[in-house]
Amino acid sequence: MMKLLAIVGSLRKQSYNLRLARTVRERFADRFELRIADIGSLPLFNEDLEDRPPEHVAAFRRQIKEADGVFVITPEYNWSVPGVLKNAIDWASREDRPLSGKPVMVMGVSNGSVGTLRAQLHLRQILASSGVQADVLPPAGNEVLVRTGGEKFGSGDGLLTDDKTLASLDRKISKFLEFVESRKEGR
Ligand SMILES: Cc1cc2nc3c(=O)[nH]c(=O)nc-3n(C[C@H](O)[C@H](O)[C@H](O)COP(=O)(O)O)c2cc1C
Repeated sequence: MMKLLAIVGSLRKQSYNLRLARTVRERFADRFELRIADIGSLPLFNEDLEDRPPEHVAAFRRQIKEADGVFVITPEYNWSVPGVLKNAIDWASREDRPLSGKPVMVMGVSNGSVGTLRAQLHLRQILASSGVQADVLPPAGNEVLVRTGGEKFGSGDGLLTDDKTLASLDRKISKFLEFVESRKEGR
């Protein structure tokens, strides 16, 4: 079975973005295994730590390397990506650069009305950088921009319940799975 990894840009326990990752894990349980990376345990990036990186950094890089593809699922903070997500990507951009050539799909939930568009534009730029060079699913027709999260998820720890959003998610994730498969065949 295909193995995918989710990198979630919010550390909040009841994060909508985390709940979107869980929704995807549950909904596609018969198509792929989804691991959710623990980026909250990564230290702040510091070049001085690079010679002997903490074990958690090595484990994070290993999880990316072992995955057939990666979802980056993030909120928008002040029109950009949260610092915790940038920190994780910076760690993944060094040494063996595990994101290089890795199929990646970008998604995001915000509580506002133009949710995560600006963050996703920045994120795509970061993922294209020479240190990262991820193989990102092109945005046309594949953007997942979930707005007004408060209205679309169940209460507490609830998963995504909005039918229209779920239908669009199914379509776009199926396209990502084809993208991942096509990259595997090309290798
Ligand atoms: C520091 C901070 C900055 C934010 N900036 C934005 C923003 O620029 N655009 C936006 O749509 N929402 C913004 N929000 C609101 C988030 O969309 C909302 O908090 C969302 O629930 C965060 O995602 P999460 O539920 O996965 O933690 C911001 C929230 C915080 C805490």
